[in-house]
Amino acid sequence: MSDGPVTDIARILDESVEDDSEVIVERSLRPHTLDEYIGQRELKSNLSILLAAARQRGDAADHVLLHGPPGLGKTTLATIIARELGANIRYASGPAIERAGDLAAILTSLDERDVLFIDEVHRLNRAVEEILYPAMEDFALDVMIGKGPSARSLRLSLKPFTIIAATTRAGRISSPLRDRFGATYRLDFYDVADLRSIAERSARLLGVDLSPDGATAIARRGRGTPRVVNRLLRRVRDYAQINGDGRVDADTADKALAALEIDEEGLDGTDRKLLAAIIQKFGSGPVGVQALAAVLAEEPETVEDVYEPFLLRLGFLDRTPQGRIATDGARAHLTKLGYDVPPPRRAESEQPAFWGGASPTDESATQSETAN
Ligand SMILES: Nc1ncnc2c1ncn2[C@@H]1O[C@H](COP(=O)(O)OP(=O)(O)OP(=O)(O)O)[C@@H](O)[C@H]1O
Ligand SMILES: [Mg+2]
Repeated sequence: MSDGPVTDIARILDESVEDDSEVIVERSLRPHTLDEYIGQRELKSNLSILLAAARQRGDAADHVLLHGPPGLGKTTLATIIARELGANIRYASGPAIERAGDLAAILTSLDERDVLFIDEVHRLNRAVEEILYPAMEDFALDVMIGKGPSARSLRLSLKPFTIIAATTRAGRISSPLRDRFGATYRLDFYDVADLRSIAERSARLLGVDLSPDGATAIARRGRGTPRVVNRLLRRVRDYAQINGDGRVDADTADKALAALEIDEEGLDGTDRKLLAAIIQKFGSGPVGVQALAAVLAEEPETVEDVYEPFLLRLGFLDRTPQGRIATDGARAHLTKLGYDVPPPRRAESEQPAFWGGASPTDESATQSETAN
């Protein structure tokens, strides 16, 4: 921790003024209490016990890890937890905490029972993570004083606090870090009924005249994700304002969503491009995520975190040790939309070679080598 100058905590903590209007609207739609937070019933009931117990003891609550795909409400929930605890919350993120000293500065600035939210916690670097272990376990900070043979370690004590960490990638978190969370909650995709309630709540807050069937039409295409529902609602509202009287019913919603090229399953252009690539370029798979990412001009991590979870959930995609496979469901969906859907290659290569199946020189053999 002797690295570099005095840390500017405000630079690391997310205290910058947001001027992106989408972000401002998103924040304004956030529920503030656990009661207002729609869906995730099992999680909420477990969490309310943890919160009630902490309140009763008057202690800092246990550290909490929230994981699940983007836009399901992790940041929202962290904010609600702090509020329910009557605690202050500070926001930081894994990649923004670059040095061990950065984290030490944040931790020493926390008051008793404060909540520190660490977004994208799987992206903390090793040196920073090691500061976190004793901090989470014993509320202690181990500081090295001096250099070389005369260096010694000094233990400083911290005021009890609560870490709430969020990640889209629970699998990327090291086990020593994972073990230090007293509670781990997984957020799941929302069903249509919950998404409909979210659309209706947001419509009320935004002053949009949304009919029940309009809400259903939006919810059905919401990819199981509140953020997507809120975004679709705003786009549909724009459409209704320009092309009608501003009122959003099923008909307006259908037209607006068709104009946005969002299909009946809620897939957008990128989702369909991903499935079409597997089906048309890679014989329906298996194909490695690297190759897919290259076709979409995206990072493999984005493909895995943003696009794949919902396609897996719909049953349009399968992950196998050999790579990704487009399922029969995906093939039927694209056929219905008029895509060219050639027969899957795996039907042939699954046959044992001595029955006249794949020869080592044909395309399927070379393809499976590039799959990961
Ligand atoms: N349970 C819910 N009830 C109502 N609205 C919700 C709920 N969960 C999320 N939202 C809305 O969805 C939006 C996105 O939620 P949030 O930013 O918390 O997602 P996230 O999981 O943190 O996403 P990311 O992984 O991208 O950080 C918020 O603006 C909020 O209004
Ligand atoms: Mg978030």
